[in-house]
Amino acid sequence: MKNMKHNLKRKLMIGTAVSAIAAATAVSAEVSDAKVSVKAMADALHLVMDSDRSVYTKKIVNRLVKKEKVIKASEHFEDEKALVLPAQMFRFGSEMAAKRAEKLDDVNFSYTLQSLWPINKQNAPKTNAEKAGLKYVAENKGKNYYTTEKLGGVNYFTAVYADTGVAPVCVSCHNKHPDTPKKDFKIGDVMGGVVIRIPVEG
Ligand code: HEC
Repeated sequence: MKNMKHNLKRKLMIGTAVSAIAAATAVSAEVSDAKVSVKAMADALHLVMDSDRSVYTKKIVNRLVKKEKVIKASEHFEDEKALVLPAQMFRFGSEMAAKRAEKLDDVNFSYTLQSLWPINKQNAPKTNAEKAGLKYVAENKGKNYYTTEKLGGVNYFTAVYADTGVAPVCVSCHNKHPDTPKKDFKIGDVMGGVVIRIPVEG
């Protein structure tokens, strides 16, 4: 008797789960056909990467390096048992995302952190869109730069967003780095930019 009741309860539960899955599938088919513009996609991607970057810099690097002085952040983080630099954190994420996106048919985008005043010359802008975008976001605080460009026969939507000195440690580390071409960054200054590139048809 106890078992029968149990089985009935189980059947009911399975039935409910099956109809819930059916409803969810029906909705998701409709939803997956809905369109999002490339600009909205780039803006959303940037919001996530910029928030993660700010959280890492403020809550981990600035707190432990500058306020509590318990550890340093260094390019040579393995040898020196130090924290990964915010720019390295960003690049490692970008490299992992690129690798994982290769296996996904519908996911195609890339992103980099660059600057007109780079510590690492590899982070200088290369394409005309990157150069124009970095200049624009540095001169027009609070505004983003959007354009299209053709590279290697592929058309891209390219967005450039300001990368701002949000924590004291951003400014102090850059100003005193031996390879920096600029030593007078202040908190709140635009220090570079994030370039997001999405291939588009046509
Ligand atoms: C402890 C030192 C340190 C801190 C803190 C730091 N940076 Fe950097 N940053 C560097 C170094 C070194 C590089 C070059 C690293 C590389 O490409 O491998 C770099 C790279 C960059 C770049 C790419 C251009 C370039 O200079 O090579 C930007 C833009 C940038 N940082 C902005 C910031 C901002 C904004 C913050 C705070 C949110 C910050 N950095 C925090 C040391 C630091």
